[in-house]
Amino acid sequence: MKHTRPLIVGNWKLNPATIGAAKKLFLGIRTGLGRKRHEVDIAVAPPFPFLPELERLSPSGRISLAAQDVFFETTGAHTGEVSLPMLKSVGVSAVIVGHSERRARGESDHEIYKDVSSIFNSNVTAIVCIGETTRDDNGNYFSVVEAQLRSVLRAVPKSKIKRFVVAYEPVWAIGTGAVATPEDVYEMKLFIQKILTDHFDRKAAAKVRIIYGGSVKKKNAKALLEQGKVDGFLIGGASLKAKEFVDIITIANDYEPTSV
Ligand code: PGA
Repeated sequence: MKHTRPLIVGNWKLNPATIGAAKKLFLGIRTGLGRKRHEVDIAVAPPFPFLPELERLSPSGRISLAAQDVFFETTGAHTGEVSLPMLKSVGVSAVIVGHSERRARGESDHEIYKDVSSIFNSNVTAIVCIGETTRDDNGNYFSVVEAQLRSVLRAVPKSKIKRFVVAYEPVWAIGTGAVATPEDVYEMKLFIQKILTDHFDRKAAAKVRIIYGGSVKKKNAKALLEQGKVDGFLIGGASLKAKEFVDIITIANDYEPTSV
């Protein structure tokens, strides 16, 4: 089967503190990547106010810009919200939706469904985060992940399936240093693929990139690709260090899957 081109996304969250520091980080990544062609799709998701400046620093679009969230309405009386057309107008080509830190602040499956619908009305990629808060011995976490995934699938048209990315992010592994084992990640990838196959069909499901997030570092990236068989990463903490982020991109670039 054809190897899926990996996707590596840096989620900067509420970092860094200033536009100056954001430009420095972005340029550090750009310089670190050098002129070498990478067989990897690369994106960073900075805080909203930094997007226009960073777009100017990436004229070739080699590092794509992603947003950390979106609001499904396009205009109107919605204080504090940011719409998809606004994001597109400053160069955003992918949006992270349903991150656990947003769910923890009250974002519901239904709102996430509406956000995903608004994304698929345009030609932007949706990176939908799903993941359990805890693991137990009874496998209840599978039903949590299944419910989160199924609640957005109706918003994903089969004709646009290539722009649908699922980020499996077990909440207990985010920012904690406690990474899921590659075996657990692979098991969850197969489970997610099965749900996608049930909903669409095998051919369409194979086009969805399933990436992993949760304490991804240079030291665990290879095993997560090799044994976890994920199609890339959503990286928080390690994406704030240009060298570490570029090292992970290089690992993904050099990784040759033996079987898929
Ligand atoms: P982390 O964050 O890499 O710092 O664990 C991942 C995420 O929240 O997307």
